Parts: sequence; structure tokens; C-alpha cells
Amino acid sequence: MSTHVKNQTELHAALNRQTANWSLLGVKLHHYHWYVSGAQFFTLHAKFEELYTEAATYVDDLAERLLAIGGKPASTMTQYLALSELKEAAGGESPKEMVAQLVKDFALVSEELKSAITAAEELSDQPTADLLIGIRSSVEKHAWMLNAYLA
Ligand SMILES: [Fe+2]
Repeated sequence: MSTHVKNQTELHAALNRQTANWSLLGVKLHHYHWYVSGAQFFTLHAKFEELYTEAATYVDDLAERLLAIGGKPASTMTQYLALSELKEAAGGESPKEMVAQLVKDFALVSEELKSAITAAEELSDQPTADLLIGIRSSVEKHAWMLNAYLA
């Protein structure tokens, strides 16, 4: 019983951390989208838009899943900054630094998703696991592509 409560609490916290991660990444990706410049402008400007559009979908999906399983999604910038381990854009990054930072951010998000998936599976919460697995699969694909860009 206590294990169940602990896992449910852990899962709610993990979903909230993901809500915070994707909210922060949405803002960060807009920053990159607006401030990227140079020869790769058109490529990266479009890629960052694709990624912030995806981020917005995840925020809503994660928050609504959290509500569906009795949680309370974080919903303020203050909460997002407190909950996420990620850092906002520093400003002045070169295009390569933007992409390299996203590779690092996606690696952290993927690791956090891995634990969240385990927590969901331990609770036999397949719909939450499915949502998280879908996000992780996409994050890893983006990480591969961003790494290929940097190579
Ligand atoms: Fe735009």
C-alpha cells in the first residue's frame, strides 16, 4: 500500500517535471527560432519551430494526463523554473551552441522519461507509459538528427 502511494506520488511528480521541461523548452526554442542567424538560418529557424510546436503538444498532453489520473499540473512559469533541471537560453548562443545545448537538454529529458516510464509501468498505468514512451522515442530521434547536424 505504501509502495503504491509512493509510486503514484512519484509518477505525478515525474509528469509535472516533464510538463515543466516542455514548457521551458517551448520558450527556449522560440528564443532560438527568433535569434538564430547566419548561413543555417532557414534550416534551424524551421527546425526550432517544428520542435516548439511539438513541445506545446507535449505540455498539454502531459498536463491533461496528470489531471486524468488525479494529479495537479504545474501551470505557472515560476513553478516550471523550480521544477525543471533545464536552464533557459542564455542569449547570444551561436547556431552550433544552440543545437549542442538542445542535444544535452534532450539527453536529460530522455533519462527523466526513462524513470517516469518505469514508474508508470510499475503502477500498470499503460496509457501514461504509452504517452511517455512516445515522447521519449521522438526525443531520441531528434537527438540523433541534431547530433548528425553537429558532426
Ligand atoms: Fe515563427
